[in-house]
Amino acid sequence: MNVPAFDEGSKNDNFGVEQIRKEFPILSAEVYGKPLVYLDNGASAQKPKKVVESMVECLEKYYSNVHRGAHFLSQRSTEAFEDARAKIAKFINAPSVDEVIFTRGATESINLVASSYGSQFLDEGDEIILSCMEHHSNIVPWQNLRDQKGIVIKIAPIDDNGNFLVDEFEKLLSDRTRLVSILHVSNVLGTIVPVRKIIELAHKKNAKVLIDGCQAVPHMQVDLSDLGADFYVFSGHKLYGPTGIGVLWAPSDILNSMPPYQSGGEMIERVTFDQTSYQVAPYRFEAGTPAIIEAVGLGAAVDYVESIGLERIASHESNLLRYADKELRRIEGVRIIGEATDKTSIISFDMVDVHFSDIGMILDREGIAIRVGHHCAQPLMDRLKLSGTARASFGLYNTENEIQKLVNGLKTVKELFC
Ligand code: ALA
Repeated sequence: MNVPAFDEGSKNDNFGVEQIRKEFPILSAEVYGKPLVYLDNGASAQKPKKVVESMVECLEKYYSNVHRGAHFLSQRSTEAFEDARAKIAKFINAPSVDEVIFTRGATESINLVASSYGSQFLDEGDEIILSCMEHHSNIVPWQNLRDQKGIVIKIAPIDDNGNFLVDEFEKLLSDRTRLVSILHVSNVLGTIVPVRKIIELAHKKNAKVLIDGCQAVPHMQVDLSDLGADFYVFSGHKLYGPTGIGVLWAPSDILNSMPPYQSGGEMIERVTFDQTSYQVAPYRFEAGTPAIIEAVGLGAAVDYVESIGLERIASHESNLLRYADKELRRIEGVRIIGEATDKTSIISFDMVDVHFSDIGMILDREGIAIRVGHHCAQPLMDRLKLSGTARASFGLYNTENEIQKLVNGLKTVKELFC
């Protein structure tokens, strides 16, 4: 596993993790009388006070609808909503703030592209490529499109360690490839996919590339001016922000060539009973009253993450991953699932003779929250010939002490079942 070594370890706490933990009220909660150990950040991350406070402040001090009113509150809300968009654009280094579309989450972002871009630009016989590691949210929308339009879906493979096979991917590219839709980081294996190489190869065939960055943006710097992707999507709630808000990024020329996804108020330029003309992006894709409070919360989450720094977060989480990998391997019967050369923040495992549901249940009673099951990636489970795994996923507030509690919890599981 190629996790770079960093000087900043959580042992001497140069990172300041104890201070950071104080900013997350839920981390001092108890579960069944035991201190909470939250290792389910891949599913959703906890929220710092600053995010909660920003949303409360919006509701208590200046909330109103955006882009509509002539009055003070509406102007103030609009300013906060658009400020959040600008913060996100800067966070991902988007060339233009108008390229950041607010959606309900990554799932809606992918559905938007499949429905809008897909209906306009993909035709029968056109090919799209996914990887075998995709989350269901990056499979099912394309299957629906396949059933509607007769497109062809091809699947890029991995090796047994979970490494993405670039050479095999390249063989799948053809003159009919129109789109590659692929995750940046696997939510099951932690594999970091070589997206830059994929983009380069796909572009040689004039295919567009959508990157699902849900498991990447909380853990590594993503620079969209540099990456060269055509679409990039992520959810707010995994980035320490609220639920119900996410992002679709794409260059303006692509966005403005796409038909609206949903229609109604806000996304129009002029409506008569005969016809309607539409705004340009981002408003073209933001029909109806948007998630104003959630956008403000996501802006605060981005501020929070930037105040710590993604490089420092990545180094802290790399240390945790390396530590967890070493400690879990020492438990007889535990098998790490996913040993890709480039990995981040996620460790899946199983245990000889113990069902993953039992692992989850026993750890839960110890106050330890992990995810078990297929992780919304059933085709990957088929590839691995597993029905599920246990998965610990780390965030910026986790500690080696918590990993030690996970290890102790797994020893308890062993005692009970083996
Ligand atoms: N996609 C999220 C996970 O991996 C929900 O848990």
